[in-house]
Amino acid sequence: MQPASKGPIGVFDSGYGGLSILRELRRVLPQYDYVFLGDNARAPYGSRSFDVVYQFTRQTVERLFEMGCPLVLLACNTASAKALRTIQQNDLPQWDASRRVLGIIRPTVEEVGDLTSTRHIGIFGTKGTVSSGSYPIEIAKFFPDVKVTGHACPMWVPLVENGEFDSEGADYFVKKDINALLEEDPLIDMVILGCTHYPLLEAKIRHFMPKHVKVVSQGAIVANSLADYLERHVDMRAKLTTGGSCQFLTTENPDMFRTAASSFLAEEIVAQHVDL
Ligand code: DGL
Repeated sequence: MQPASKGPIGVFDSGYGGLSILRELRRVLPQYDYVFLGDNARAPYGSRSFDVVYQFTRQTVERLFEMGCPLVLLACNTASAKALRTIQQNDLPQWDASRRVLGIIRPTVEEVGDLTSTRHIGIFGTKGTVSSGSYPIEIAKFFPDVKVTGHACPMWVPLVENGEFDSEGADYFVKKDINALLEEDPLIDMVILGCTHYPLLEAKIRHFMPKHVKVVSQGAIVANSLADYLERHVDMRAKLTTGGSCQFLTTENPDMFRTAASSFLAEEIVAQHVDL
């Protein structure tokens, strides 16, 4: 791989969820160019094995690097939990050590300590994210007094990917998973939406969540954290192009992606198909 010259920020997710992060990135850092890649053809990743998530994520990161991105953000908790470390430690030095791949779990975790009074928090995530233990492990490094209970919501991503996030079916599964989490730990006063698809269900989650429980989604946290990272890393900042553009790529049908993504982002977008 050629050393990185100037290019856009790559943003990756298994599907539409990463758009909830992209929207905030473009709000907080509108000057940069972005390439969003959704691996919709192979979504969801959430119940896939460690090795499959790693291989899929590795392919998409490599593709975004080949397209000239000096920096790729994994806007996906499952990929951040299961693939980030191996890519950073094994693949990146072989590809081009001057590029960077960042995840979204660490920046989220750094913010949570001040948001809970009971010191009991809940994490909603995919099976992969919850079973990886990444959130409790990272939270223990910053806030060892906080008790973390993870709960996997395997139906939430398929509801979002299939445009069913405002349906009665979504009501059923959102209520069921909230009740299960709060039964497991009734002292929870804050819940992290630890999957980038979940903000698309956020209105429903807030509706069914008891009012004393804070619901925290990641978009603004991740965007502010990237702004802070770029403030501190002048070398990386200098490698990013600043035309304010955004290109959308999907491994699925681009018309399907365009229709769904335009409604999620509340703006008309154009999408292209990409093979990995
Ligand atoms: N949006 C992803 C996440 O944040 C994963 C969804 C999936 O593909 O299961 O975990």
